[in-house]
Amino acid sequence: MKALQERIRQDGIVLSSQVLKVDSFLNHQVDPMLTMEIGQEFANRFRADGVTKVLTIEASGIHFAMAAAYALRVPFVYAKKKQAVTLTEDVYSVPVYSFTRQETYRISVSKRYLSEGDRVLIVDDFLATGAALLGLVEIIKQSGAKLVGVGAVIEKSFQEGRGKLEQAGVAIHSLARIESMSPGEIRFVEETEKTLAEETSTRC
Ligand code: G4P
Repeated sequence: MKALQERIRQDGIVLSSQVLKVDSFLNHQVDPMLTMEIGQEFANRFRADGVTKVLTIEASGIHFAMAAAYALRVPFVYAKKKQAVTLTEDVYSVPVYSFTRQETYRISVSKRYLSEGDRVLIVDDFLATGAALLGLVEIIKQSGAKLVGVGAVIEKSFQEGRGKLEQAGVAIHSLARIESMSPGEIRFVEETEKTLAEETSTRC
């Protein structure tokens, strides 16, 4: 998604080769116009799959899940990281290890909102190590619903998340795939692929 890549270049801050700060437009202050465009992109990619529900995890996936669900005209559900006192009914629940915080937390979804007949699209802000997303995949398995795919706003392709999800047979659609980054330079996967293709065609 060109507009997203340009915005990441313009307003993203590369904190290290591993961490990108995007809190001026994606996950603290939020650009609602860009968010709705992102939701539309996910909807266009997965509309034909008969999605009945969009699933995400609190907190930073919520507005993207809402935008995609709005475009698809279906409800969205977000997995909770802390069990609320009001969540008294039966839940699907899995432990997730956070590499950034180096701790394990439990995510849960009420059994009332996910069941066998559902066709679920997972949406989240980052595809990084894949830990949180694999937790959501496991929740869907527990519910007996069908996973149609994962939509990630930003993928850090140099981390292991994509590989793990692909191994689990999951279809992934990432809107901006970062191949590598350093302060002052962000390389996206498609651009590298294009450059390689151009080099090959000039050599032929
Ligand atoms: P994932 O690949 O399945 O998202 O799992 P991972 O455990 O690698 O990511 C853990 C958390 O760190 C996620 O947020 C994810 O969005 C965030 N994250 C990973 N890489 C980056 C990065 O480069 N920049 C920023 N800003 N965030 C990153 P979370 O724990 O779900 O927290 P929340 O912000 O959604 O509350």
